[in-house]
Amino acid sequence: MKALVWHGKEDIRCDTVTDPEIQDPRDAIIKVTSCAICGSDLHLFHNFIPGMLPGDIMGHETMGEVVEVGSGVDGKLKKGDRIVVPFTIICGECDQCKRGNFSVCETTNRKRQLGDKVFGHTTAGLFGYTHLTGGYPGGQAEYLRVPFADATHIKVPDGIPDEQLLFLSDIFPTGWQAAVHCDIEPTDTVAIWGCGPVGQMTIRSAILLGANQVIAIDCIPERLSMAEAGGATTINFETESVLERLDHLTDGRGPEKCIDATGMESHVMASQPDTLLDRAKQMVMLESDRPHVLREMIYVCRPGGIISVAGVYSGFSDKIPMGAFMNKGLTMRTGQTHVNRWTDDLLRRIEQGEIDPSFVITHTVPLERGPEMYQVFRDKRDSCVKVVLKP
Ligand SMILES: NC(=O)c1ccc[n+]([C@@H]2O[C@H](COP(=O)([O-])OP(=O)(O)OC[C@H]3O[C@@H](n4cnc5c(N)ncnc54)[C@H](O)[C@@H]3O)[C@@H](O)[C@H]2O)c1
Ligand SMILES: [Zn+2]
Ligand SMILES: [Zn+2]
Repeated sequence: MKALVWHGKEDIRCDTVTDPEIQDPRDAIIKVTSCAICGSDLHLFHNFIPGMLPGDIMGHETMGEVVEVGSGVDGKLKKGDRIVVPFTIICGECDQCKRGNFSVCETTNRKRQLGDKVFGHTTAGLFGYTHLTGGYPGGQAEYLRVPFADATHIKVPDGIPDEQLLFLSDIFPTGWQAAVHCDIEPTDTVAIWGCGPVGQMTIRSAILLGANQVIAIDCIPERLSMAEAGGATTINFETESVLERLDHLTDGRGPEKCIDATGMESHVMASQPDTLLDRAKQMVMLESDRPHVLREMIYVCRPGGIISVAGVYSGFSDKIPMGAFMNKGLTMRTGQTHVNRWTDDLLRRIEQGEIDPSFVITHTVPLERGPEMYQVFRDKRDSCVKVVLKP
């Protein structure tokens, strides 16, 4: 089959690889009908997340049709079923899965000793996302083996196009969880850093959850326009002062809730000298992340407020203003998304027409054009916000 394969830093190719097979009774194989490129894939593209090996198949936003099931799938799935695959592989049985903490499932990371060593405790296995989380082949491919498939799936009805359902795999529940983590009250201002696909889903979620005011921050005009169309007031951090505008928009109090939808690769620019220092430290391996957004959020957040971090961080972040964080009495919530905790509700909202997540798609291309689209998405060329690939 054809698949997008990681060969090294900024080197992803569409290769012919061996078709996946059932390896365990709980496996299923799907024929992929649609898959997408995520901002998290860019961290791998740039080799900022350790634990990728040449030959790894990329991709964790995937849906398709079940073509084979193992003997242990227990009637939960059958040939012909249409499923969206959550990016978190879950067993459905361990203590964390029972609590709904699916992204920290205790069973599914088949390289758990690596997770234990690096993070203190293992987290869930993830598709197409480093050997720290199991090194499972991803879904930017013609076929995907879904381990623990009896639990790891979202069954979706016929009659709704892939484009509306695909993002149940990741970015829609991710934006939703980031907003839910804020305990939004009707008087709240929610400020969101990053208007990429995750930021866009977060904006819509914060509005659906009843925020009084949503403010979206980025520097890419098309992404800011999309944010505005979704109901946000926008700040372009390249041409305006984030601190001054937030101050003005909140009568000097600061936003009650701040969401990081940017993560470890904050833009590097001379007007934000901390980002220059972070980049220099990254180059000599003194720091793994560029946490400008975390610093800014802690500084502007209203005392007593909540900092919700959806953006991915990989290792160590310097100069986090703990003094401000502690003295202002802030709370931080974060995590890879517990996808299946949210998807019954979100699927219902899509079916009822409350939201159509396909608004974020700007490019739909054949899988073979994937390598080129990694560059286009990374460089935000051609007004690119979200790429869907068709195998
Ligand atoms: N927690 C999870 O489970 C989960 C799931 C999916 C994605 N993610 C993470 O979410 C983040 C965003 O993903 P995406 O797909 O939207 O990626 P993306 O790279 O398209 O979006 C990031 C956006 O942040 C903007 N940005 C950069 N520096 C900024 C700054 N200083 N202030 C404000 N905005 C800034 C960029 O211009 C860009 O539009 C990534 O870190 C990704 O890994 C997390
Ligand atoms: Zn993702
Ligand atoms: Zn589990």
